[in-house]
Amino acid sequence: MKHLKLYLVLIAFGFTFVSQGQSTWVAPDSANSLKNPVADNSEALASGKTSFEAICFVCHGNQGKGDGLNAPNLERPPADLTAVTVQAQSDGALFWKISEGNPPMLSFRYSLSEEQRWQLVHYIRELARLYPPQSASVPSVAQSDISGNDQSESTTTSGSKNTDSKRSLFPDHSLIMVVIGVLVVVLITLVVLVYTLMAVMVVVKN
Ligand code: HEC
Repeated sequence: MKHLKLYLVLIAFGFTFVSQGQSTWVAPDSANSLKNPVADNSEALASGKTSFEAICFVCHGNQGKGDGLNAPNLERPPADLTAVTVQAQSDGALFWKISEGNPPMLSFRYSLSEEQRWQLVHYIRELARLYPPQSASVPSVAQSDISGNDQSESTTTSGSKNTDSKRSLFPDHSLIMVVIGVLVVVLITLVVLVYTLMAVMVVVKN
C-alpha cells in the first residue's frame, strides 16, 4: 500500500499525543495525609534555601522558575515551583515528589534526610511568596473581566496558565491530548478498515 508511510506517521503522532497526556505527574492520595513535622521558621527556610541553591537550582533555577542552567538539556522542562499548580499541592505531595522523583527529576530519598526534604517543602512555599508568578498581575486580564465579580480568582487562574505555558507546549491540556490521541488512533483504524474492505472487494470481484 502506498499510503503505508502516512499511516505510520499518523500512528506515531497518535502515540506521542497519548504519552504526552500521561506524563502529568500526580502524587498518590496517601501522600496528602503526610504532615510536615518541621516548623516553618527562619531556621527551616535557611536550611531549605541552602539545599535548594546547592542542588535544585541546577534545573529549577534559584527562584524556582524552572529556568536552571541544566533546564534546556532535559527531555522534560523542570516545573516552575512558584506556579499555582505546584503551590496548590499539599506539603505531603511535594515531599513525596522530592523523595520519589520522576525522570528527569531525580529522587532525593537517599541523598537528602527527611528533615531536609521537609525544609525544602517550606522553602518552595517561600519561593512563591518571594517570586510570585509574574502573569498573576497582568492588567489586561483583570480588565477583560467585565462582570467584575471575583477578579482575583480569574487572574490567578489565567496566571497559572501563563506561567505553565513557559514550561511545556501543552501544559494543562493533558486530557485534551489524550482525547486527540485516541481520536487519531480511531481515525487511523477506520481508514485501515476501509482500505482492507476495498482490497477484499477487489479480490472478490476477480
Ligand atoms: C535534573 C534536574 C532536576 C533537579 C536537580 C531537580 N529537579 Fe525537580 N523537577 C525536575 C523536572 C524535569 C520536573 C518535572 C517532572 C515531571 O513533571 O514529571 C521536576 C519536578 C519537581 C517537582 C514537582 C512539581 C509539580 O509539577 O508537581 C518538585 C516539587 C520538585 N521538582 C522539587 C525539586 C527539589 C526540591 C529539588 C532539589 C532537591 C529538585 N526538584 C531538583 C528536574 C529537576
